[in-house]
Amino acid sequence: MFKFKSLFLLLIIATLCFQCKSPNSSVETKIDKLISEMTIEEKIGQMNQLTGLGLNDDMKAQIKNGTVGSILNEVDVNIVNELQRIAVEESRLGIPLIFGRDVIHGYKTIFPIPLGQAASWNPKVAEIGARIAAQEASSVGIRWTFAPMVDVTRDPRWGRIAESCGEDPYLTSIMGAAMVKGFQGDKMSDASSIAACAKHFAGYGAAEAGKDYNTTWIPEMLLRDVFLPPFKAAVDAGAASFMCSFNDINGVPSSANKHLNVDILRNEWKYDGLLVSDWGSIEQIEDHGAAENLKEAAEKAITAGVDMDMMGFAYNYHLKELVNSGKVSEDLVDNAVRNILRIKFRLGLFENPYTKVQKDAFYKPEALEAAKNAAIESAVLLKNNSLLPIDKKFKTIAVVGPLADAALEQFGTWSFDAEPAHAITPLAAIKQMYGKEYKIIAEPGLVFSRDSNATGITKAVAAARKADVVLVFAGEEAILSGEAHCRADISLPGLQNQLIAELKKTGKPIVLVVMAGRPLTIEKQISESDAVLYAFHGGTMAGPALADLIFGKAVPSGKLPVTFPRMVGQIPVYYAHKNTGRPGTNFVTIDKIPIGVFQTSLGNTSFHLDAGDKPMYPFGFGLSYTTFSYSKVKLSAKKMDAKAKITAECTITNTGKMEAKEIVQLYVRDVAASLARPIRELKGFEKITLKAGESKTVKFEIAADQIGFWNLENKYITEPGEFRVWISKDSQSGEPVSFRLE
Ligand code: NOJ
Repeated sequence: MFKFKSLFLLLIIATLCFQCKSPNSSVETKIDKLISEMTIEEKIGQMNQLTGLGLNDDMKAQIKNGTVGSILNEVDVNIVNELQRIAVEESRLGIPLIFGRDVIHGYKTIFPIPLGQAASWNPKVAEIGARIAAQEASSVGIRWTFAPMVDVTRDPRWGRIAESCGEDPYLTSIMGAAMVKGFQGDKMSDASSIAACAKHFAGYGAAEAGKDYNTTWIPEMLLRDVFLPPFKAAVDAGAASFMCSFNDINGVPSSANKHLNVDILRNEWKYDGLLVSDWGSIEQIEDHGAAENLKEAAEKAITAGVDMDMMGFAYNYHLKELVNSGKVSEDLVDNAVRNILRIKFRLGLFENPYTKVQKDAFYKPEALEAAKNAAIESAVLLKNNSLLPIDKKFKTIAVVGPLADAALEQFGTWSFDAEPAHAITPLAAIKQMYGKEYKIIAEPGLVFSRDSNATGITKAVAAARKADVVLVFAGEEAILSGEAHCRADISLPGLQNQLIAELKKTGKPIVLVVMAGRPLTIEKQISESDAVLYAFHGGTMAGPALADLIFGKAVPSGKLPVTFPRMVGQIPVYYAHKNTGRPGTNFVTIDKIPIGVFQTSLGNTSFHLDAGDKPMYPFGFGLSYTTFSYSKVKLSAKKMDAKAKITAECTITNTGKMEAKEIVQLYVRDVAASLARPIRELKGFEKITLKAGESKTVKFEIAADQIGFWNLENKYITEPGEFRVWISKDSQSGEPVSFRLE
């Protein structure tokens, strides 16, 4: 009887295992079969990604010959279907094409830029945004997006900070994974799902001087502690593809970096997705000075595990020769093709290669509603001298500033497919929603953010004089951030500072709303304003979202995903810095130094004479229209062993008069270790909603493997000793409690 039962059990387990394994193994069998039928030209063809040129004869011929595997930037569904027909029906093996596009924060319905979404600290915002982007983009045949960008960056000069989730590996990991989930949906083979692409692998955000494509120097432990975790999180979330970065790390361009792409991505992380180069990045190995010619670049890239060449032609021109001469083994090529075919199978392209032409796929009411909610949750209230929300006592409102009515600019970077006619600007929303209650006087003052013509300022000042309150919409045009749009001076461009200074002289209360792709150095403009709302580039529905926030239909709940410097010279400035041997205390600022004084030590601590040692606003900072109090943090134990977990809890009370959301943050510090550790590291967060007067206890579990680090021997370790824990409203406040790891 017992024997029979065990046998029966074994049979069930075997069947279950077979069922789990069979879909994958059957795909792998199909892939192997296809590869065995492919010529070397067809294999290399799969590794070739070209930009769309419409129904161009040359392109048609290439597809027919099987010498192109993927096309990017073709968004006409009829052309997509026709090119796909040629691939499926006219090429020898009928392998479908995969169409890609940079669908970064929306396709038609534009959500806030990723940096803005990160300010929501709400993974649902990111997931829903990506899902809607996938639904809209897939309706025209795009089944692969080059997002999320999970590059950690600590440099607001870098234009691509707009496309990032900011400075922190943990926040970036959570938001990036949520985007992967949103793009790929529950099932990647569903026609409305698109493959995600974790980019740029790796270290791109560490570009020297915040200048795009620039060199990076990243020691291995920093790479693994800070830059790699969001990529690992993307692997764990099932990201179907990865993209190489443009930069070199310590002299090795990423498209030639075997350590990153093979040792770490494939061997350590067991990643079986597709690795695509960035645009021309294989060819650029030569420009970096790391290959003598395109042929050597191709050899380096294939050896470093780059599967697909995006617009570099290196594989196209040289791979066959490299294989024939024995310099590159055909197995390497087969592996790359395997990764490419796998994503095509996963997307269901072999079964359903064509896109059903749909009507009304864009701007669905639920998409617009989600975009508005995302823009609400992305705005961060930096200052409020009781001016917001706007009081009913005010009768006349002046709406000023170059971004009050600039539909294109509120989309931010990466909005190729956005349509300004569908965007609602703050001015349009305010007029439409509040035009009956208040008299609205609109006077931009400046036509665009870089405007250096002062004539409009006089008119804006005159409008302000007639008003009870002034709303100033300032910031950066979309074109001032994003790829290759870096700035060395990150103050408000054009004459916006002058505009704000002139408005201040009127004595009227000023609300400054900043719409920008990065943190800006606006200390003086903040001091001249009574309230400041930092809205990033909020997308299609930025206007209604900001109107709701300004007039109190919604309460700000965003917190900064990146430190805001006071001055450019402080950069890099980030919360998770080391303590140094002489942390900044007792410092003397430049104006306090007596004239003619002899050489003195000025406190002998770490600070800038002109900026002190603190940023303008710390990571995690953000106000609300209500206030929250935090109780003392309670730990479940004072000691923990490496296998156990400890719980930290804190009770948060809404001490104000409105229901609102609060982002509760968990930070940990390893007080003494074999390598100096950051003064705090984010290890958890929760966004909670509290009614006026309501309290909630938030609990976080801390496990030993969350609080370790990579050591000089390239091992992830957790060392015994004291750890400090904060549960706080930002990265600078709160009282720590301690436990010991034994
Ligand atoms: C270059 C960018 O670095 C990358 O992020 C983008 O996906 C590709 N171009 C394709 O447009």
